Amino acid sequence: MCGIFGYVGKQNNAAQIVFEGLKLLEYRGYDSWGIATKVKSQPFDFAQGGKSKVKTTKEKNGFVVERRVGKIGDRTLSSKVLANSHLAVGHTRWATHGGVSVANAHPHLDCRKQIAVVHNGIIENFQELRKDLIKKGHKFRSQTDTEVVPHLIEENYNAALVKEKSFTSAVRQAFNKLKGLNAIVVAYSPSSKIVAAKTGSPLVVGIGDGELFVASDAPGILKHTRKALFLEDNQMVILGKDIKLISLPKGKEVKPKFQILDWKFNQVEKGGFAHFLLKEIYEQPAVLENIALYYDDSVGKLAALIDKAFGTFMLGCGTASYAALAGTYLFSRIAKKHVNFSIGSEFKYLEDYLTPRSLLIAISQSGETIDVVEPVEAAKKKGCKIAAILNVLGSTLYRQSDYKILLGAGPEKAVVGTKSFIAMIAVLLLCACTLAKMKKKGKLLLKESAKGVRLILREDFVNKIKRLAEDLKKQKHIYVLGRGLSYATALEATLKLKETSCIHAEGFAGGELKHGVIALIENGTPCIIIAPNDETYNDIISNAQEVKVRGAFIIGIGPKDNPVFDRFLPTSDIKDATIIPQVVVAQLLAYYLALARGIADPDKPRNLAKSVTVK
Ligand code: F6R
Repeated sequence: MCGIFGYVGKQNNAAQIVFEGLKLLEYRGYDSWGIATKVKSQPFDFAQGGKSKVKTTKEKNGFVVERRVGKIGDRTLSSKVLANSHLAVGHTRWATHGGVSVANAHPHLDCRKQIAVVHNGIIENFQELRKDLIKKGHKFRSQTDTEVVPHLIEENYNAALVKEKSFTSAVRQAFNKLKGLNAIVVAYSPSSKIVAAKTGSPLVVGIGDGELFVASDAPGILKHTRKALFLEDNQMVILGKDIKLISLPKGKEVKPKFQILDWKFNQVEKGGFAHFLLKEIYEQPAVLENIALYYDDSVGKLAALIDKAFGTFMLGCGTASYAALAGTYLFSRIAKKHVNFSIGSEFKYLEDYLTPRSLLIAISQSGETIDVVEPVEAAKKKGCKIAAILNVLGSTLYRQSDYKILLGAGPEKAVVGTKSFIAMIAVLLLCACTLAKMKKKGKLLLKESAKGVRLILREDFVNKIKRLAEDLKKQKHIYVLGRGLSYATALEATLKLKETSCIHAEGFAGGELKHGVIALIENGTPCIIIAPNDETYNDIISNAQEVKVRGAFIIGIGPKDNPVFDRFLPTSDIKDATIIPQVVVAQLLAYYLALARGIADPDKPRNLAKSVTVK
């Protein structure tokens, strides 16, 4: 949560670079944004480590800050004060401590405005730190936990708590005092350095030609460079003339391990689509074909781990948890294998049964979700083997895991997960087929499902969905019913509807209807029936009848039409992969419902952020 971007280097439009970088990271939080840049900065001499040759006054050496409430969106940076600088840091915020206001927007400064800090995480002991700093005369301008950081650094630096009086040591000592999982990026104007440190949330450094970048996600830096350094927890990096990496708390130098990113920059642009959400929905056939073609080996190794393990547990949050739930059905149906599943945040209450022979499969698009990262850490301590199915190279989960499969879905910029979910299902399906010694069949199912998705993305089908969205747009509730694997489809469909169109939607197992749920059905209540051509068909059609006689408006999704349906959205019959086109129908319905309801930006649903790195 929260997007961070920093720049130091040869170009003198640092604020503009940071501004553009923040736009690319806005999916991480969009309550407010801000940029700090060095005032009247002197020409940057990179060879000198950015040290200005011209003596500047203290006043001239400070930061100016521009902060705004709301999304950075399509704004342009008009501010003249932010012009002509080679050092800037910025932030796009998902509010935790302190309401959504200009004063609480980052960056936050010390009393002299020479230290600018942007932060992601929660400083658990900020209240006691703040009290102490106020006693020492520091003036606070916000209600955030973050603001203790610049003052703490200032205090350390000025009070000569750091022997050599180096700024870097002042940051290190301040960071060591913070409790909780945090990532900070600190810029210091007199030295033109950026220092970044983390214990929790992600940070990646981009290495350019005579310039360095730091961002909370790789899409932020792709436009500038492919050479990256992913910071590990308890590491701090100093960016100036070159890169120095140290470990925390003591400050011992560590050799950086650089990586070359293979994502392309055009993958983080809308490319003619109105929204990233729509673009990413349309990318799904290619994602499926990629997995069908290139995942034999990686999936084979995961299948072998499952085969060998004494108990396998999958976990994920939100959309990834529904992929995991679908996985339990797929492993049972196809491979006759019992693979458990839990929501990430609940796993810590269930982990007592883990042993060193257990296998934990963590499923996550970002690889940063705290409710996945924490249980994985706990399971590691118990000696379990960790496998991860994830989309982001170098993420925390990527580093935590013994074995990993990258989804290859490319950057997912819309906050709502679409192509990552489809890729997760594809990997789990192929894995279950491999376990059952039916790898070829699995690959064929994925190729067929790519075709099935393409049929849904055709104009005539999309028009059908648009018409349905118009008809449903005034509804307050939508229910989705499914059985078996389609129960997972129902849950994923309702999550898409809820977060994208802001209509209350609930997914139920068809069999649960008569145990209470049916009380919700009134005249005209829309009920979506997920009806694949499998063993659940007759029972789910009976459920559809039961709600229809109580007045429900029935929308059927599946390969076979039925007289009970008031509306029918046909999907291809792809056996165990039928979930794939069915979920895509729900994704499109959610998107067009959002548009029909006048939701301006379906890429950024209210109150959400792409990676949930705080509890
Ligand atoms: C919903 C959505 C979220 C994420 C969840 C886990 O569309 O995207 O529910 O699935 O926050 O995120 P990852 O997969 O990054 O761990």
